[in-house]
Amino acid sequence: MTMTPKDTLTMGLVGSGFITEFHLKSMLGVRNVKVGGVYSRSEENRQRIVDLAAELGLGPCTSFSSLDGMLEDEGIDAIWILSPNHTRLDIMRQIHAAVTEKRSKIVAVACEKPLARTIGEANEMLRLAEDAKLNHGYLENQVFCTPVLRGKEIIWRRAAANAGRPYLARAAEEHSGPHAAWFWQGDKQGGGVLNDMMCHSVEVARHLLTDPAKPRSSLKIKAVNGTVANLKWTQPKYAQQLSERYGPDVDYRNRPSEDFARATITLEDEEGNDLMIEATTSWAYVGAGLRIQLELLGPEYSMEFNSLATGLKIFMSREISGAEGEDLVEKQNAEQGLMPVLEDEAGIYGYTDENRHMVECFRKGETPSETFMDGVAVVQMLMGLYYSAEEGRTVTFPAEELENYVPMVARVGAN
Ligand SMILES: NC(=O)c1ccc[n+]([C@@H]2O[C@H](COP(=O)([O-])OP(=O)(O)OC[C@H]3O[C@@H](n4cnc5c(N)ncnc54)[C@H](OP(=O)(O)O)[C@@H]3O)[C@@H](O)[C@H]2O)c1
Repeated sequence: MTMTPKDTLTMGLVGSGFITEFHLKSMLGVRNVKVGGVYSRSEENRQRIVDLAAELGLGPCTSFSSLDGMLEDEGIDAIWILSPNHTRLDIMRQIHAAVTEKRSKIVAVACEKPLARTIGEANEMLRLAEDAKLNHGYLENQVFCTPVLRGKEIIWRRAAANAGRPYLARAAEEHSGPHAAWFWQGDKQGGGVLNDMMCHSVEVARHLLTDPAKPRSSLKIKAVNGTVANLKWTQPKYAQQLSERYGPDVDYRNRPSEDFARATITLEDEEGNDLMIEATTSWAYVGAGLRIQLELLGPEYSMEFNSLATGLKIFMSREISGAEGEDLVEKQNAEQGLMPVLEDEAGIYGYTDENRHMVECFRKGETPSETFMDGVAVVQMLMGLYYSAEEGRTVTFPAEELENYVPMVARVGAN
């Protein structure tokens, strides 16, 4: 893709919730970018984002009451899809129509994780982006976490070059449960915690194992084995808590989705060596807040990262009381005692480097290091894991039976 680089990329945001605010905050560390517009259904939500963009000096940001209105605005260069999983494909279809009918001049689209809820949907997302000749980026922030960028660079340059490639990556992401009703609804979200959080773990592990000089496709997925379970949120007391918090839309007594998932994934490199990913995720972890744990092991070396083993810790005695918040760490569970604090969450979780990379690629017409193709590969691994858990056996790849597969928890009540 060749084009004259744009001096500034003006982005339009679809969605105005939790992740949109995180992306906006991270843009403070990104150059050559402006936030030109936001579209979501409620005017109040859009105004919150317009105000935040102004406060951060990223605007002027216009509140658009229709997606077509934002797509047809000549000032918008690229779209960031940051709305819930069940809205993705319709939004992408609208983008495709506006671009192919020449009503929109956008050149690129970035989409939050997971790219889609099934392999069929993921393939369609990719097809629509390519058919409209749009540059595309898959927003997997953990690939851009500052400890991952730094750790991978050192391991491959100093250790792997000396002693041989890494062979085992471990990744875990756990917290005490998501913040909005749709995450808990299997048909809307596409599954439970396996879909919601293991998409991060499998991709960051695959990224760590990939030779930096080679594409992600240099590693072939050979087999996947998954387990899912309901550990916490189906217990009557906790199912009741969900009903009280979200009303009848979330019925964990009758329509639960998994709150625990485990995966082993066997891969093969170009020399025929076996590599392993071990991943575990849960919505049943009550610690200080969100915990990401990553490890990479090779013949004479290892690296590890734990997002809650922070350098900065704050102690507050029982005499200090205050409102609940997420001001110390994401998905925070306490406001007293010895608390870890991530002093730059947007950076450490990867949003700043992710957006810097996407903005620079879109501005210059270059292909990002994470595209919708990687998003498709992630969905293939996730569907393989759900199928493995449902069948109680290891699934070997390529697995044609996954093409039309819908996870059991997404089938219940599916519309
Ligand atoms: N990378 C990460 O670690 C991470 C973390 C959290 C979430 N995410 C991903 O980000 C996406 C959004 O999650 P979230 O946590 O921001 O959810 P959220 O807090 O529930 O916000 C969802 C937003 O989407 C808007 N929306 C709903 N339906 C829409 C539609 N049809 N068209 C346009 N906007 C619509 C809602 O606003 P209105 O009601 O005004 O429409 C709301 O602002 C999900 O795909 C999720 O998986 C990623």
